[in-house]
Amino acid sequence: MSDAIYDERYSRPGFYWGSKPTGLARDVARIVRSLPSPPRTLIDLGSGEGRDSIYFARLGLRVLGVDISSVGVRKAERRASRLRSKPRFQVGDIRTYQLSRRWDVVFSSGVLNNLPRRMRGARFEHFKANTAPGGINAMNADVEKPYIPPQTTNPHASPFRSGELLGYYWDWEILDSGQGEFVSTASGIPHRKAMDMVIARKPPASA
Ligand SMILES: C[S@@+](CC[C@H](N)C(=O)[O-])C[C@H]1O[C@@H](n2cnc3c(N)ncnc32)[C@H](O)[C@@H]1O
Repeated sequence: MSDAIYDERYSRPGFYWGSKPTGLARDVARIVRSLPSPPRTLIDLGSGEGRDSIYFARLGLRVLGVDISSVGVRKAERRASRLRSKPRFQVGDIRTYQLSRRWDVVFSSGVLNNLPRRMRGARFEHFKANTAPGGINAMNADVEKPYIPPQTTNPHASPFRSGELLGYYWDWEILDSGQGEFVSTASGIPHRKAMDMVIARKPPASA
């Protein structure tokens, strides 16, 4: 299992996405600090070269990063090798990956657009079902806007509809959500993007 586009990007020297954690990861860190019982376990779906998984491991969480790119997974393992509390990394495809336990935090940044539309409802139900009661899901996704030309650098990606991501969490407490527009330079070709984010908490009593 692998993805040629990301394998090629991750084969280059340095870190394609840089070394700083994402804004979403920093938002999660801020929110979990304020919770009465802080989460202990986190799964990072689409962990890439591991920047967020490593950030969360440094904060004391037990972390598993999953990514379709075996090159990314190996690079993340090397990058984390000197940490005292190492995140684990695994090759997996978010379209089919089965979460094998209930995680305190299910996290995914920059990845969910790789879920085909027809799969999304079932996949979000799976992510939610495998979140511990009182646990958190923190996700973001590119959204389509009629005035923003579609992004073409990833042929597998399809945008979410504005508000779609929040809709999957209709029955959870919304701790933070929003939409932002910015110019991304990650692909080397600056292009405008709109992105939705949500940080939602599963009701403590739900099964
Ligand atoms: C924009 S990068 C974000 C990586 C990481 N979350 C970060 O912010 O540094 C998207 C990641 O999704 C991964 N990916 C793409 N399709 C995937 C899939 N079907 N299953 C798992 N990971 C996937 C890619 O390999 C890549 O690492």
